[in-house]
Amino acid sequence: MPSQVIIGAQWGDEGKAKIIDILSKDADVVVRSQGGNNAGHTVAVNGEVYKFHLIPSGILYGDKLCVIGNGVVIDPQGILEEIEGLEAKNISTDRLRISLRAHLVMPYHKVLDGIKEEYRGNDDIGTTKKGIGPCYMDKVERSGLRVCDLLNPEYFAQKVRENVKIKNLIINRVYEKDIVLDAETIISEYMGYSERLKKYFADTTVIVHDAIQSNKNVLFEGAQGTLLDIDLGTYPYVTSSHPITGGVCVGSGIGPTMIDSSIGVMKGYITRVGKGPFPTELFDETGKQIRDVGHEYGTTTGRPRRCGWFDAVIGKFAVRTSGLTEIALNKIDVLSNIETIKICTAYKKGDEIINEFPASLEELKDCEPVYEELPGWGDIDHIRSYEDLPKEAKAYIKRVEELCGAKVTMVGVGPEREQNIYV
Ligand code: GDP
Ligand code: IMO
Ligand code: MG
Repeated sequence: MPSQVIIGAQWGDEGKAKIIDILSKDADVVVRSQGGNNAGHTVAVNGEVYKFHLIPSGILYGDKLCVIGNGVVIDPQGILEEIEGLEAKNISTDRLRISLRAHLVMPYHKVLDGIKEEYRGNDDIGTTKKGIGPCYMDKVERSGLRVCDLLNPEYFAQKVRENVKIKNLIINRVYEKDIVLDAETIISEYMGYSERLKKYFADTTVIVHDAIQSNKNVLFEGAQGTLLDIDLGTYPYVTSSHPITGGVCVGSGIGPTMIDSSIGVMKGYITRVGKGPFPTELFDETGKQIRDVGHEYGTTTGRPRRCGWFDAVIGKFAVRTSGLTEIALNKIDVLSNIETIKICTAYKKGDEIINEFPASLEELKDCEPVYEELPGWGDIDHIRSYEDLPKEAKAYIKRVEELCGAKVTMVGVGPEREQNIYV
């Protein structure tokens, strides 16, 4: 498996962390390369549930190097809370490494995320309000602060003072909010975080490169999903980073030739949190049943997730844009006891059949799903081998494979480690 990328092939929450956890057993290094603590990754082990936002899920094993790459945006307060939570459960974080090049989420990013969403009113994106968008904006604008800046207190303080001055003007004069941030408080708060976190700081590009060069098994843990990609997703209802496989190279500082394979994680249906178009969304009892049985509530914000039928137009798009070599199809147990299961094979706009995911949301808005119906199956959460799955479930898996254009190599029938079936 030398270097394998695991990405979300839908709108996030596909069960990426469960797959990472399963594959981590044989891995040496697990790397996050984009996003921030907008991600909510859940791993269930023997009934105990672990939730991660920034720390790679491989940390549970104790002997894996866990790397937060340069493309991730780090909220130091958030990561410290996560470290404390793990240590309280006797899980060591000694093998965590944080990139010196990663950008820092600052208090003004979180304030601005909230204010901008409020200002957008009904046109809000439905962000997680973790400051992710404003942090990536500053990175691109070249006014961001990075982890390495924490080690240069004078430079850090000067930059914070400059930034806070401008952010206060934007908050007070543009958005007319009565919030005033104090640079000196932020500086001393972040110097405190730095003291506690600096043992983890490293040039992670060297770590990841050397691990791959020496044939170690390296896993890249994607966050968010293909349709939340800033370039390829349902813009502007997207996140501000690159959750597709291509994002891994820039976000961890390696070349594309160093990636051996890429697994796209999908669910047997689709969910989305936040706003934006969703052609196969269900508003009926079946949608409610999927939400209830699948416990589809956000790990980060607790918001109910919107649920809908599996969309193969999206599946095919993810396979194409990330060059997926395999599909991990999770949560097909959630579809148990639904008499007829639908798969969207294309969209219809008037008389026109649309086979490729449209760029324009205006076009997507007018797209009606074209469905194919398949017979359902009974309870399968106790099944542990592909042979034992009901023929209807096998037919469903085969159809997903055919329509998306990549092999389904793993099937999820429950949240636990052992509820994963290799095809
Ligand atoms: P991620 O963000 O892609 O890592 O996914 P989340 O952790 O946000 O959401 C996936 C949820 O589904 C978690 O609560 C998992 O424990 C759970 N889960 C993962 N795979 C399966 C599965 O095959 N069946 C069921 N029933 N639950 C699963
Ligand atoms: P994981 O890694 C699902 C969504 C938000 C919102 C949009 C922009 O758990 O799959 P942001 O705060 O990133 O600016 O919000 O992106 N979003 C996610 N949806 N899973 C995630 O992560 C998400 N991270 C962000 O709900 O619609
Ligand atoms: Mg999630």
